[in-house]
Amino acid sequence: MLWGQQTEIEEKIFVDLTEVMGRTFIHASKIKHAARKRKHHSNFRTLIKLLNNDAYKIESSKPLKNGKLFKYWKNRRRLFSKIDSASIYMTDELWFSVTPERIACFLANFVKACMPNAERILDVFCGGGGNTIQFAMQFPCVYGVDYSIEHIYCTAKNAQSYGVDDRIWLKRGSWKKLVSKQKLSKIKYDCVFGSPPWGGPEYLRNDVYDLEQHLKPMGITKMLKSFLKLSPNVIMFLPRNSDLNQLSRATRKVLGPFAKCKVLYVKENGYMKGIFCMWGECFFNYEPASTENSRRESSEKEELSSENEELSKREKHESTTTTKNNTVDIYDVNG
Ligand SMILES: C[S@@+](CC[C@H](N)C(=O)[O-])C[C@H]1O[C@@H](n2cnc3c(N)ncnc32)[C@H](O)[C@@H]1O
Repeated sequence: MLWGQQTEIEEKIFVDLTEVMGRTFIHASKIKHAARKRKHHSNFRTLIKLLNNDAYKIESSKPLKNGKLFKYWKNRRRLFSKIDSASIYMTDELWFSVTPERIACFLANFVKACMPNAERILDVFCGGGGNTIQFAMQFPCVYGVDYSIEHIYCTAKNAQSYGVDDRIWLKRGSWKKLVSKQKLSKIKYDCVFGSPPWGGPEYLRNDVYDLEQHLKPMGITKMLKSFLKLSPNVIMFLPRNSDLNQLSRATRKVLGPFAKCKVLYVKENGYMKGIFCMWGECFFNYEPASTENSRRESSEKEELSSENEELSKREKHESTTTTKNNTVDIYDVNG
């Protein structure tokens, strides 16, 4: 091969890679290639090791060695329905962090119904890909960020198992740093979603979850501000016992006195799993008739009305500003 030809080929690889990575992100389907290309960087060396060892692969029929995770393993099919038929990758932390598939699927359908023309979704704490994968089922470009290289790897591998890795771009990094260095602002995202760490399974220790003190890596006000820098449409998945007064205060502080936050309480398998908090006009004009849930609407009504009674009982204990700045709905993803 002539020297000139070789250079041309090298150049072509370089161009392909930069296109694929958008200079910042790694395409989930090219993760091995990108890791080899950047092996001088310690994160990518770790990534190569994980890939070579096929690390964190779950054997669905084998209970986990860590007994504390047994209850999560028992519900493994709720996390990833393909766990028996495809290769799924999970770290210990992901067992209690991944958004269950039906909830993630419900959210992705909901966002699609609210923003049918959206193309780019950013998943700020992508974890094992629970949300990223379901968004990729609905939208052509999904960007996932996580500060754990192990979790980035799990998201990429799980996305491959779900056949959506060609629609996913990933980046390892700390959210605070990425925002302060404006590392993500070159892309115009239609919606920014985040399921931030709640502080482990202990989040229910107190009756009310303090969104300013306990949410990681920053309190709700700062987090909302940081998400809104990248898109006017923002969704966060937060604990079901979140302090709605703090949510109202954060909304007013960041978006002004008349701004609203839509809150959806999400139930799965009879349990309230958490709340989706939404900011952005498109989420307010949403009509249930336009999503999958419409088919279930009539059968749900009875259950919803009793839930609403329960909720209004709760709301009586909250100040009027909460009801003024939040709209509250409940959805049962089981239908
Ligand atoms: C609740 S999990 C997200 C689960 C994800 N939605 C899923 O379905 O798989 C939170 C994730 O945030 C990541 N994380 C924690 N602190 C972070 C930070 N400062 N910057 C970026 N990611 C962070 C953790 O590594 C973890 O994967």
